[in-house]
Amino acid sequence: MKPGPAKTGGVRDPFGFPLRPGEDPMARQPAKVDFPVSQVRRYLEPGPIVMVSSALAERRNIMTMGWHTVMEFTPSLVGCVIASSNFSFGLIRRSRECVINLPTTALTDIVVGVGNTSGAEIDKFARFGLTAVPATRVKAPLIAECHASFECRLFDDALVERYNFFIFEVLKAHVAPSPKRPETLHYTGDGEFVLSGKVISRRRWFRPELLDS
Ligand SMILES: Cc1cc2nc3c(=O)[nH]c(=O)nc-3n(C[C@H](O)[C@H](O)[C@H](O)COP(=O)(O)O)c2cc1C
Repeated sequence: MKPGPAKTGGVRDPFGFPLRPGEDPMARQPAKVDFPVSQVRRYLEPGPIVMVSSALAERRNIMTMGWHTVMEFTPSLVGCVIASSNFSFGLIRRSRECVINLPTTALTDIVVGVGNTSGAEIDKFARFGLTAVPATRVKAPLIAECHASFECRLFDDALVERYNFFIFEVLKAHVAPSPKRPETLHYTGDGEFVLSGKVISRRRWFRPELLDS
């Protein structure tokens, strides 16, 4: 069924989408209050939370990261904000490489620990009992306990100076085939996360070019 104005039967909202029996159409227009713009992260941060591993000479490190965005499919580009105050910043800027690792909720406490400690002071692989596995395309290690690991090379550093925004190209992706939908962490600020959950599909309403196959 295509979205659009009601043609036959059923109660629909102003956009033509069907309402469930007894559903109040006004519930789709919840009342709003003014909200601090500095906290819109609570609604916009997409997650999932990742752990970024890096290496330079004998040093290796991990940081937790929520500020990332897919930018392009081919080449596979991912933009990331990495604050210059992080020990990882120097390792990644100088090595021009990293691995973006996807933890599941099984690693929640480690994700928090990694994001609240500095690699300048400790080896986080040892401290948090994580296993470093050699990558194939970069010197930064994969984290074996994570569901997926994406080997990345710095693609464009034009925005690093001004915004700490690194654009990486994913060179190789390692993904556990199961579970198909791992339970991931999505940060909403102030020490709280929401978890990935139910799956809904509207595939039939998508233009073919927006779908994978
Ligand atoms: C849930 C969470 C999300 C975070 N997201 C980011 C982020 O997107 N960018 C960033 O620069 N730091 C982020 N941090 C902070 C770094 O992970 C933190 O400063 C860490 O201690 C850096 O480690 P390092 O100094 O060893 O590199 C986040 C921390 C947490 C706990």
